[in-house]
Amino acid sequence: MMKKRFTAAMEKVKLAYAQERPLSEKLHKEARRFLPGGDTRTATFFLPYPNFIERGSGAYLYDVDGHRLLDFQNNYTSLIHGHGHRQTAEAVQKQISLGSAYAAPFEAQTRLASLLTERFPGLELVRFTNSGTEANMHALRIARAYTGKAKIIKTEGGYHGTTDVFEASVDPNIKKAGTLDQMKVIPESRGVSANALKDVLVVPFNDIERTRAVIEGNYRETACLIIEPIMGSAGQITPMKEYLAFLRDITRNYHILLIFDEVVTGRLSLGGAQKFYGVTPDITTLGKIIGGGTPVGAFGGKREIMELYDPKQKKMYHSGTFNGNALTVAAGLAAMECYDQEAVDHVNRLGRLFAEEMREIYHRLGLNMKVSGEGSIYNILFTDREVRNYRDVAASHEELNKLLYMLLLTKGVFNAERGMFCMSTAMEERDVRFGLQQVEIALAEMLPVIEEVGPELII
Ligand SMILES: Cc1ncc(COP(=O)(O)O)c(C=O)c1O
Repeated sequence: MMKKRFTAAMEKVKLAYAQERPLSEKLHKEARRFLPGGDTRTATFFLPYPNFIERGSGAYLYDVDGHRLLDFQNNYTSLIHGHGHRQTAEAVQKQISLGSAYAAPFEAQTRLASLLTERFPGLELVRFTNSGTEANMHALRIARAYTGKAKIIKTEGGYHGTTDVFEASVDPNIKKAGTLDQMKVIPESRGVSANALKDVLVVPFNDIERTRAVIEGNYRETACLIIEPIMGSAGQITPMKEYLAFLRDITRNYHILLIFDEVVTGRLSLGGAQKFYGVTPDITTLGKIIGGGTPVGAFGGKREIMELYDPKQKKMYHSGTFNGNALTVAAGLAAMECYDQEAVDHVNRLGRLFAEEMREIYHRLGLNMKVSGEGSIYNILFTDREVRNYRDVAASHEELNKLLYMLLLTKGVFNAERGMFCMSTAMEERDVRFGLQQVEIALAEMLPVIEEVGPELII
């Protein structure tokens, strides 16, 4: 079906965007000579070209063309304190003159590990990595080593980084992904090893019976079940509490390790989603905010499992030139010490305000739409359905999120193209209200397009 109004609105906003960003265009052209597509991350690219950033300060980004953008993106949720956080910057400045990395332990590593293990109920021992991807890679390896089994179960739509096994059914075309009862494992990218995917089984999130069927049919070979307690990149899909409790019980009964990927949800409370929902996994992976804005990951769990990494036992090998480097640890410690209960309450309060006001905006505009999420991260969804799993989001009008994203960029608001908005401690209520005001103006402009693309969304 030709969507004339949508196409026209998209063209119009891209033109307006481009007219105001000549310097970004120039820099993008130059970047394309040296970087594929002019960028070094798929997720940050969009057409006609991304705006080049000059600097960040607090809750705002400043692009090279002189625009100020309220940042609801926060580098995909990793900047809990926004940009240029004073205590973090001071800690890094102090550390860099003392050395950025040593091939030897230092006390601050223990302090960061101790802070994390005190906060997260599932962490007794922890190891640092350089990214969330690496943390999950090692979580899987230790699950295999501990259980002596090889397969993994993940949710359809679950994102756990860019290792081959995890690049399975992350954002599959639902027409090709089988039925809910018989889900197919779809590679996310060309080049993902078909052999690696033979170890992967996929289940629908929040679906106790179908998850049970897959576990009961495969527990003899299954090492772990990995899950984001709130499905982030799939659209901030919150769990039914019974689902997480069910996963805890059934994995324990079948000697399968339960891995919570808390790379994003680690910010939900002082002890992440596991503390918030009261379900303790065997292994936890972390990343993003615990590095204070620098590259980081961590994985950990029960002492009995993690001790396999004790070098004296010579059972497992885990190295990495920059694991727990001094700069990351200094930044992470400063950021996490500042992310105390008061800070958690602040961002979660801003998040609640965002979600409540979004529902009011829908009401005022006569829209039957959803806002999903919890704590300080939310997603605007162009659907009238309850959202319980990946397929519910995949059936929403995702192209409308892209249009909203472009419109918001031209109005001084930066979120993620998929509709995600994340709060930082650098924001005050007035910043969030400014953002909401721009979302309302953009959605009002979009009404004729919404009527064309998703008439069911108009009350
Ligand atoms: C839930 C989740 N796990 C893992 C990762 C991978 O982390 P990284 O990008 O640091 O490799 C991400 C990144 O967005 C994520 O959202």
